[in-house]
Amino acid sequence: MLLLTNISQLVTLRGDSSVRRGAAMRDLAVIRDAAVLCAGGQIVVACKQREILRHPFFQRRKRKLNEIDCSGKTVTPGLVDSHTHLIFAEPRLIDFEKRISGATYEQIAVAGGGIRSSVSAVRAASTKSLADKALAALKKMQACGTTTVEAKSGYGLSVESEIRSLQAIRSAAKRWPGTVVPTLLGAHVVPAEWKQKPQEYVRQICEEMIPQVAQKRLATFVDVFCERGAFSPADTERIFAAAIKHGLATRAHIGQFSPCALKPLLANAPASFDHMDCFHEKDLPLLAGSNTIATLVPGANYFLGQGKYPDARKLIDSGVGVALATDFNPGTSPIWNMQFVLSLACTQMKMSPEEAITAATINGAHALGLAKRKGSIESGKDADFAIFSVGDYRELCYWFGGNVCKLAITATEVD
Ligand code: NIG
Ligand code: FE
Repeated sequence: MLLLTNISQLVTLRGDSSVRRGAAMRDLAVIRDAAVLCAGGQIVVACKQREILRHPFFQRRKRKLNEIDCSGKTVTPGLVDSHTHLIFAEPRLIDFEKRISGATYEQIAVAGGGIRSSVSAVRAASTKSLADKALAALKKMQACGTTTVEAKSGYGLSVESEIRSLQAIRSAAKRWPGTVVPTLLGAHVVPAEWKQKPQEYVRQICEEMIPQVAQKRLATFVDVFCERGAFSPADTERIFAAAIKHGLATRAHIGQFSPCALKPLLANAPASFDHMDCFHEKDLPLLAGSNTIATLVPGANYFLGQGKYPDARKLIDSGVGVALATDFNPGTSPIWNMQFVLSLACTQMKMSPEEAITAATINGAHALGLAKRKGSIESGKDADFAIFSVGDYRELCYWFGGNVCKLAITATEVD
């Protein structure tokens, strides 16, 4: 059993089970001077400190009680990072320097840099070394408060190396106490060997990669980078259809550099559209009426030096459910700390601290289909918490460039 006591601010996010939108994104349901009791990996009760000692479960306790004094601290649900490219072998320092000299991400990609330049190192790496690197990243994420991580393949770009990348995710996940949701991103870019025959690569994704990944149960989601220079909306629809046929859920990188029509893709009920720097305003009512989340990844805008961020205000004010994620990857967003993403959301996208925290917890859980278990502190949910050394939840978004997380606890660690 675990008891968190004397919590200055307990950010519960309790509420109804639907995607949080509009004003609901601003309701964190904070309990001041609070306590949380957990057993068997689940939350038993979250309430005022003075009520906890009277709780019958607490009085009947049989198991050993592990008590953590959270005086002066803020406790939130474990942060949910719903978009990471966890599997890669090396940083991309040449691209980094080229951008400093003035080249854009798309220019670098056309000239042979970008995603394709991360592929040979992943193909050459052993599955074990990929898994070890992934585990190291997961540990750094947890140290910053993240307890649930979506993890993509996407730098192997062949049937064999995408499968190995997903096996590396599985191996890292087994050695990490948090929750990992694996995603196949074979459709990240067309690899060099298929550049002259891109449709043959799409066929391979649909007819070989997806069926094999589904059969081996290596992924929950199939993702597509839908963008000029990567995959077209028609390719995306074809890949989504193959995913659904094989029992996998869908999500896509959409509108990073150019907008695309959302309606045909929404027909497949994807869990999330990610980036959303560009969109057609007329698509927003449709998106707001769906359960598809817009996952914003401002770390990429920051690192690419774009000086421009997605219009979070327009999305939220239109009723779209918004999540925030790191987009941890070697090309556009080498950041594992969700706290920096919270800072960017508030300072650059004018999200309120309440909206940003909702986007990094319960809406992130919705973006992964995990909202029944993750993303809020309520009886029966998983005992995933982040304990921050600050007395006010707004400070999570205020201090930047550091780490104010004292401890992140995951359900598997709570007996
Ligand atoms: O989400 N845009 C596509 N995928 C990644 C970037 C990958 C890379 O450049 O290595 C992203 O930003
Ligand atoms: Fe991404």
